[in-house]
Amino acid sequence: MNISIFGLGYVGVVSSACLASRGHKVIGVDVNETKVELLNNGISPIVEKDLPELLTEAKKNKLIFATTDTDYAVQNSEISLICVGTPSRPNGSLNTKYIENVCTEIGKSIRHKEKKHIIVSRSTMLPGTNKEIIIPTLDKSSGKKEGEDFYVAFNPEFLREATAVYDFNNPPKTVIGCDTPEITDKIMELYKGLPGPMIKTSLEIAEMVKYVDNNFHALKITFANEIGHICKKLGIDSHDVMNIFIQDTKLNISTYYFKPGFAFGGSCLPKDLRAINYLTKMLDLETPLLNSLITSNNVQILSVIKELISLGKKKIGIAGFSFKAGTDDLRESPMIEVIETLIGKGFDLKLYDKNVSIAKLMGANKEYINNHIPHISSLMVESLDDLIKDREVIIIGNNEKEFVRLLTDTKEDQIIYDMVRIGDIQNARSNYRGICW
Ligand SMILES: NC(=O)c1ccc[n+]([C@@H]2O[C@H](COP(=O)([O-])OP(=O)(O)OC[C@H]3O[C@@H](n4cnc5c(N)ncnc54)[C@H](O)[C@@H]3O)[C@@H](O)[C@H]2O)c1
Repeated sequence: MNISIFGLGYVGVVSSACLASRGHKVIGVDVNETKVELLNNGISPIVEKDLPELLTEAKKNKLIFATTDTDYAVQNSEISLICVGTPSRPNGSLNTKYIENVCTEIGKSIRHKEKKHIIVSRSTMLPGTNKEIIIPTLDKSSGKKEGEDFYVAFNPEFLREATAVYDFNNPPKTVIGCDTPEITDKIMELYKGLPGPMIKTSLEIAEMVKYVDNNFHALKITFANEIGHICKKLGIDSHDVMNIFIQDTKLNISTYYFKPGFAFGGSCLPKDLRAINYLTKMLDLETPLLNSLITSNNVQILSVIKELISLGKKKIGIAGFSFKAGTDDLRESPMIEVIETLIGKGFDLKLYDKNVSIAKLMGANKEYINNHIPHISSLMVESLDDLIKDREVIIIGNNEKEFVRLLTDTKEDQIIYDMVRIGDIQNARSNYRGICW
C-alpha cells in the first residue's frame, strides 16, 4: 500500500520504518526540514534500537521517502497516518493545535483528490477529538464530507520507546476505531499477520482505550512504589513481596475486578485498607494512592444516593443488598449505607435479598441482622415480585441471577437502576439506568 505518515517523531519514524519493512511504500512528512533530510539520507532522527538498520534497508529498497510537502504526500498515497504530537497545555488540557494544522493541510489536498482518501490518527487524543476536531477540520478545508468523500479512523499506538520496533511488530493488541466497516478492514491489512487480538470498534472507544491503558500503567507503577516504601520501612524486601503478588493470576494479574460497577465492601477490603492507611501514618509515610481508595469508594456510594434523590421518586425497591451475590454477609455492604441514608431522608423502601432472608431466620448473621440493623430487617419482603408490584424505582444491588428478569418483567414506568450490569442491556428500555455505563 502507499502510505503517507505525518509527524516524524517517535511514533511516526518507527511506523514508517516498520511499515516499509512490511513492504509498504511510505512517504514521511514533517514540518521539520532537518528530520526530513535525515530520513532521506537513511539516518534516524531518533535513538531507537533496530531503527537504523530498518531505515537503511527501506532506503535501499526505495520504500521510504520524506518530504515537507503535504499535497505531494496525500496525492501519492491511499492512507495518511497522523502521528504528530498532542502535548499538554500548562493547565493540563490536551493541545490539539498540531492535529488541527495537519488536518487543515491534508484537507486542502483532499479538495482536489479524486480517489477517496483515508486518514488514520495514531496520536493519542481524548474521546470525541475525531468527531469534534478532526472530521470538522477536514470537512471544512476539503469542502467535502467525511464518510462519503473520504474516511477517518483512529488506530491508537501502544509502542514503548526503547523497544518500539519490537513493540510495533509484537503489539499487545491492534485496535481500529472507525464507523465504516470496509475502511476498518482496509486499515487492518496494514497489520496483517501481527500477533495479538485485532479489535474493530467505534472511534470513541478506540480513543478511550489508549487513556485507560496509560492511566492503568501509571496506577500500577504508583501502587508498586507505595507498597515499596511501606515494605522498606518495615524491613521487608518489596521485590520478594511483589514477586509473590504477581504469581496470583487468578485475582491479581487477571481480568478480575475490572468491570465498572458499585462500590467495594464486605468484611475485608475496607478494613484492610484502613489498617494499611493507619500503618503508613504510623510510619510517617505518604501514600496518596492507597489513601485515596476509600475516599473514591465513598464518592461512588454518594453518587448513587445523589442519583436516587435526583429521580424525585419516593418508592424505592432494592434487589440485593449483601455486598455481592451468593452471600448473606452484610458487614460493610455499601448498599446498607445507601439504605440508611435513604431511610434518614424519608424514602419509602422495600428490600429483597434471598440470602439475607435465609440468614434472618438462621445462621451466623441472624444476630447481626436482628440486633444491629433491625430497621433494615423490618423493610424486607419475601419475593422479587413484591418489589415489582409497587416500586417506582428498583435498584439491582448485586449479581444474583434471578434479578435478570427485572430487565423485562417490570413495568414501562418503573426505573431500573443497575449497579452490576446484570445482563444484556443492548435492548434495555429507556427507563434502564446503569451506574457507570
Ligand atoms: N512516544 C511514544 O512512546 C508514544 C507511544 C504511543 C503513542 N504516542 C502518541 O503519539 C503521538 C506522537 O508522539 P511522538 O512521541 O512521536 O511525538 P514527537 O513530538 O516525537 O513527534 C511529533 C512530530 O510531529 C511533527 N509535526 C508537528 N506538526 C506537524 C505537521 N503539521 N505536519 C507534519 N509533521 C508535524 C513534529 O515536527 C514532530 O517531528 C502523541 O500523541 C503521543 O501521545 C507516543
